[in-house]
Amino acid sequence: MDKSFRESLFNHAKEWVLEAGAYIRNNINEPLTIDTKSNPNDLVTTMDKETEQYFSTKIKKTYPNHFILSEEGFGDDLSSLDGIVWILDPIDGTMNFVHQKRNFAISLGIYQDGIGEIGFIYDVMSDVLYSAKKGEGAYKNDVKLGPVNENVALEDAILVLNHFWLTKNRLVDEHVMQDLVKRVRGTRTYGSAALEFAYVAEGIIDGYLSMRLAPWDIGAGIILLKEVGGRTTTIDGNSVQLLEKNSIFACSPKLGEKIVEEYIKKGKK
Ligand code: IPD
Ligand code: CA
Ligand code: CA
Ligand code: CA
Repeated sequence: MDKSFRESLFNHAKEWVLEAGAYIRNNINEPLTIDTKSNPNDLVTTMDKETEQYFSTKIKKTYPNHFILSEEGFGDDLSSLDGIVWILDPIDGTMNFVHQKRNFAISLGIYQDGIGEIGFIYDVMSDVLYSAKKGEGAYKNDVKLGPVNENVALEDAILVLNHFWLTKNRLVDEHVMQDLVKRVRGTRTYGSAALEFAYVAEGIIDGYLSMRLAPWDIGAGIILLKEVGGRTTTIDGNSVQLLEKNSIFACSPKLGEKIVEEYIKKGKK
């Protein structure tokens, strides 16, 4: 993508992210209509839908040739990442939004022909904007991030894991996760994949492992993390297929490789 086009796209997207975020923040105490989707704990609110609709209207009006891949149904039905695709999660961490009124984010990644060009993760209630442009670095507000610490020992690492590691799967059955959790300094779960990516990029978390994330959970985070020298793979260390659900491992390359080799692949050999 041409640098000056990327710049103007970045500025438009940034304006919309901040505007949508301010609207959510200013209305955080208004009554919500909450529905459920795939199960009683899979929540969606009118705010999720309105926010996505806001972006969809802006994008389609300003960039009629661009595509949208998003969670709540106002995007396009895409079978490829050809062209310019806005990968949007209007509220990542809806459960936090509903129950905690914090720890949720707007996540927006802009891709051209499958290549990440621009990423935004906006922690709405803290008014903290993580942003990245391909080849130009990642920022937390105006402060440049990175590079990721390449030399974290497993014993000093804090990992973000989600509750799926307590459910039945090979890594739990074969005690891989339990052994890993025992070895590292600590674990955390924040409940927003986008923020969890941002924390790895910021270097306050050393790695993030999660099952079955959707493109809009990770679209921006992948771009942000790449700009600080981090890597995003599947749990097994393979490449992510952005149009599908993926297990995710976001980490610095060295630590990621170590965990994949010493733990994840254990039992498979
Ligand atoms: C969810 C959050 C959560 C992750 C779930 C996602 P949503 O997104 O990112 O942290 O564990 O898998 O679905 O539904 O709140 O946008
Ligand atoms: Ca959801
Ligand atoms: Ca999400
Ligand atoms: Ca969402």
